Amino acid sequence: MELSEKIKKIKPSQTLAITAKANELKSKGVDIISFGAGEPDLDTPDYVKEAAIKALKEGKTKYSPAGGIPELRKALSERIKEKNGIEYKPSEVVVCPGAKMGLYEIFSVILNPGDEVIVPAPYWVSYTEQIALNDSVSKIVDLSEENGFVLTVEHIEDAVSEKTKALVLNTPSNPTGAVVPKKELERIAEFCLKNNILIISDECYEEFTYGEEHVSIASLSKEVRDITFTVSAFSKSYSMTGWRLGWVAAPEKFSKAIVDMQSQTISNPTTFIQYGALEALKDGGEFPRRMREEFIKRRDYIVSALNSIEDVHCMLPQGAFYAFPNVSKYTQATFENDLKLTEYLLEEAKVAVVPGSAFGREGYIRLSYATSMEKIQKGVERIKHALEKLKKR
Ligand SMILES: Cc1ncc(COP(=O)(O)O)c(C=O)c1O
Repeated sequence: MELSEKIKKIKPSQTLAITAKANELKSKGVDIISFGAGEPDLDTPDYVKEAAIKALKEGKTKYSPAGGIPELRKALSERIKEKNGIEYKPSEVVVCPGAKMGLYEIFSVILNPGDEVIVPAPYWVSYTEQIALNDSVSKIVDLSEENGFVLTVEHIEDAVSEKTKALVLNTPSNPTGAVVPKKELERIAEFCLKNNILIISDECYEEFTYGEEHVSIASLSKEVRDITFTVSAFSKSYSMTGWRLGWVAAPEKFSKAIVDMQSQTISNPTTFIQYGALEALKDGGEFPRRMREEFIKRRDYIVSALNSIEDVHCMLPQGAFYAFPNVSKYTQATFENDLKLTEYLLEEAKVAVVPGSAFGREGYIRLSYATSMEKIQKGVERIKHALEKLKKR
């Protein structure tokens, strides 16, 4: 029996594959430094864990409402209002098993076969695959390093057709760390309103900006809010990647469709962990603020260390926790592509990084700096030696 056509189109996540490969080598005793995983190195806060354990012990172990427990939907609607300045009723906020699933659900409830979604590149690995799973087409628009990989309305203008259904906006961006400034968001929102384009705003890194403030596009006006899906998660902000908990906020028509979809697919996000998340929100953003302070130091260090390597150029990211250096001189001169370069770095330097091609941009590598300063220092030093060795060949 053949697999379905749509599943045949899907590539497995390269970030997860590289992390798995690095972990396998580590388990064999190889001293690998991993810049692969997109997750903070800090543990989940104890008060969050304890609240989940308490819920478990109290027997909160049964099915719960498909859109999330009412307390958490209410707390999220309050938090979104306070932090991002957007009014959503609790019924317009859907708790989902991670932002990744939330995004998949959005694509499922809005796309018909053949519809187009504008995806700025470099992009986070799953957008294009999820769009393909919904029999739809990603219209890739290329952002340039010279402009700091910032999306502008001109990029979108070039990609629009009568089949365009939505735009994926990811600010701060994974993998580039680019942050779209408010002025540009206003232009983009106006264009989307005029052209009937829905906005899918992936704000998973909203807590991590280092200059330009994060602005939620849906906060710009009631009209913009009405065409926007705002997506975020506990994964990065509270170092809860393995818990699988995120949310989608959208006008009632859309949020109800997502709840209906969850009711027929997952039933509900895991019940007891939602009580942990409820506790996380009570800290008023203290935990992510502490991580942010640490990430700024690491960002400054890693970017200057990478730039000290001959023929490597790394832009200063304005948000998230990734460095995305241009290594095209090495991929062009010595290797066929950046995947080969990352394989060389894993074998020669014992350092795991992700190739830019996984994010739709050949000639770059992505390093997560959500790891200790000591590992960053050691890892970049190893990369430097391995690349210098190549020069001498
Ligand atoms: C931009 C972006 N969106 C969504 C996700 C998925 O987040 P979650 O782990 O909550 O599913 C990630 C995770 O790496 C991400 O980087």
